[in-house]
Amino acid sequence: MEVIIRDSAEIGCILGAKIIASVVREKPDAVLGLATGRTPLRLYQELIRMHREEGLDFSRVTTFNLDEYVGLGGDHVQSYRYFMRENLFRHINIDQKRTHVPDGVAKDLHAECRSYEQRILDAGGIDIQLLGLGRNGHIGFNEPTGSLRSRTWIKILSEQTLRDNSAVFGSFETMPKHAVTMGVGTILDARRCLLLAFGPAKVRAVEHMVEGPLSAICPGSALQLHPRATVILDETSAAGLRYADHYRWIDSHKFDWQRTK
Ligand code: F6R
Repeated sequence: MEVIIRDSAEIGCILGAKIIASVVREKPDAVLGLATGRTPLRLYQELIRMHREEGLDFSRVTTFNLDEYVGLGGDHVQSYRYFMRENLFRHINIDQKRTHVPDGVAKDLHAECRSYEQRILDAGGIDIQLLGLGRNGHIGFNEPTGSLRSRTWIKILSEQTLRDNSAVFGSFETMPKHAVTMGVGTILDARRCLLLAFGPAKVRAVEHMVEGPLSAICPGSALQLHPRATVILDETSAAGLRYADHYRWIDSHKFDWQRTK
């Protein structure tokens, strides 16, 4: 696991955008795995800027989002399809037909999960998967104790996750309690994983993910098994790491070719 600590979330997001942009420049028909939530918003703004000012071309890119709430159609303002349209897709030259978000209102959700897995395979697999980290260590909506080999499935959201995300819904009670999410196994199949976690609320989850034991109680710790996982933190989310100086040392002694672009 490559751990990169930057002074602020702003700087971390700019670095994250550069990494994704370099994947797209090297492989114009790249398959990107995307996340929603507060964490990647600044990164998406930077990708939009790169598209407008530097001509970053998304016309041949395919995307797969991690998850969607069960019961919310794509036009619902709290749906992740809507989030992606508003915060990224409508600002760049991506072909909407190449953007995939699980269908939270599919009649047969199990069939939707199987078909999502198949669509990822048909696209040739995910080149880089962007991830946030739940306060309880979740990635996608894979909550603590979920299988570390799971595939796209239907998950019950934990109380912690519901509380963390209820602000945008107005109330805890009206929020969907289930989601369709890529499984941890699906995420680990991506050729590269890029996780961002910022702010003091993520300290414990970051500590567990990076330095704790590999354990289903912290699904993010599964990234310890990934051959190419990059974790970008800010000083506040990294505050609990015992080996922070070691990560800084490694970061400052990389050859240019080892440096994340
Ligand atoms: C979002 C997702 C979640 C979030 C996580 C962090 O698609 O799958 O795992 O990345 O809950 O959310 P924020 O960024 O809002 O703190």
